[in-house]
Amino acid sequence: MAMKVTVIGLGYLGATHAVAMAELGHQVIGIEADPQKLAALQAGKLPFYEPGLDKALTRVIETGRITFQPGHSESSRTADAHFLCVGTPQVSGSYAADTSYLFSAVDALAPYLSETAVVAGKSTVPVGTAKALTERLSAAAGFEARLAWNPEFLREGTALEDSLRPDRIVIGVVGGDAHSERVMREIYGPILNGDTGSAAGQTPFLVMDVATSELVKVAANSFLATKISFINAMAEISEAAGADAVALAEAIGMDARIGSQFLRNGIGFGGGCLPKDIRAFMARADELGVGSAIDFLADVDAVNLRRRQRVLDLANQELGEVAGKKILMLGAAFKPDSDDIRDSPALDIAVQLVKAGAKVVIHDPMSLAGVRIKHPELDAVQDLTSAAQDAELVVLGTEWKIYRELDAASFGELVANKTVIDGRNALPYHAWQGAGWKVIALGRNLEKA
Ligand code: UDX
Repeated sequence: MAMKVTVIGLGYLGATHAVAMAELGHQVIGIEADPQKLAALQAGKLPFYEPGLDKALTRVIETGRITFQPGHSESSRTADAHFLCVGTPQVSGSYAADTSYLFSAVDALAPYLSETAVVAGKSTVPVGTAKALTERLSAAAGFEARLAWNPEFLREGTALEDSLRPDRIVIGVVGGDAHSERVMREIYGPILNGDTGSAAGQTPFLVMDVATSELVKVAANSFLATKISFINAMAEISEAAGADAVALAEAIGMDARIGSQFLRNGIGFGGGCLPKDIRAFMARADELGVGSAIDFLADVDAVNLRRRQRVLDLANQELGEVAGKKILMLGAAFKPDSDDIRDSPALDIAVQLVKAGAKVVIHDPMSLAGVRIKHPELDAVQDLTSAAQDAELVVLGTEWKIYRELDAASFGELVANKTVIDGRNALPYHAWQGAGWKVIALGRNLEKA
């Protein structure tokens, strides 16, 4: 049955969720306070790049199932559910997550909340936040608000696919509230029934208490971050021992208990989730008096950041000194198929190289507009041929397909010196070596291979 929902906060998470809800057949009111983002969405344009989502947005706007507003209106009163999708960024000068946008969102919602509407939080939060939000919302609304937690596991680059065909749906409800569970089952019904392409009845629908549901998300992201830092730690060892971390990952990944995903060593994880989530988790665990339980996450963070330094060291080693040298950074986004530059390892390395005196030209198919605003000290060049001109060192920072498929021979004619540091272990190094390049790949010793 079609339901009516509001989606509050239309960043990567909220915009994707709003479109997904409309794709499921629901009537959606998207709420976004930022006038620029709102205007873009109202005009049918995504304020960020996400493959396939733009077309889906156009499609659902045409059906009339989605509208965008700067705030709530009378129409919100009849919604069956309200999804909280606002950001929870890292507090400046601390590891903790800033949950103030969530509290503002429930304050704004309270006057429009009905007693039967379910408020479903999707933002990633420190455990305990949902309880505090429920108290705030109930006090403001004058009745016991029904707050559920419904963590989102979508990945940028495959966001819509992840939303419509998720591995699992997790719902945390207060005191086993059957009504909240029923509403959520109804909303996700088309996925559970197999209408979106998942096998009918095969998507697990996990109902649990609110605190556990909040923890599920941070635990999942901490595990993923740990897995990446584990293989990056193995890369450090491999570099010292003359071993090959890529072959090692392949071999251990074949053990089904370990699994091969998230075992790609390189310059590490970035983005709007993994780095801030592990830090916020550490801060929250400290507050709960159990910080030592996840002390290892500090190492996960440290290993991750050391990989960025490793590229700086290699660059200095290769060029004598980077000061005054022209270095081309291929990629600025934190991962391919995204224009998100939040905590991007590639961008961070580029900025550090500039600080060390290098002349850095940065290229990226999608994110240079954002780079120019945030980092005017970088020379952001959209045309790859001009960007490569006379480079004395090339660094692969984001493994976009266009870089993986570069013709090493003709690309080599553009640069002054055919040396590349493959920060993502993504280049077909035999072809590059065959075209006369010196390839340095993290965690590997290709000279010896
Ligand atoms: C992550 C989680 O995967 C997702 O479930 C959650 O909802 C949000 O956070 P996302 O931030 O989109 O998603 O990116 P993800 O695909 O997890 O990659 C994170 C970072 O890890 C990227 O910088 C990527 O380059 C890096 N990474 C990933 C590696 O360095 N090695 C790997 O093997 C995998």
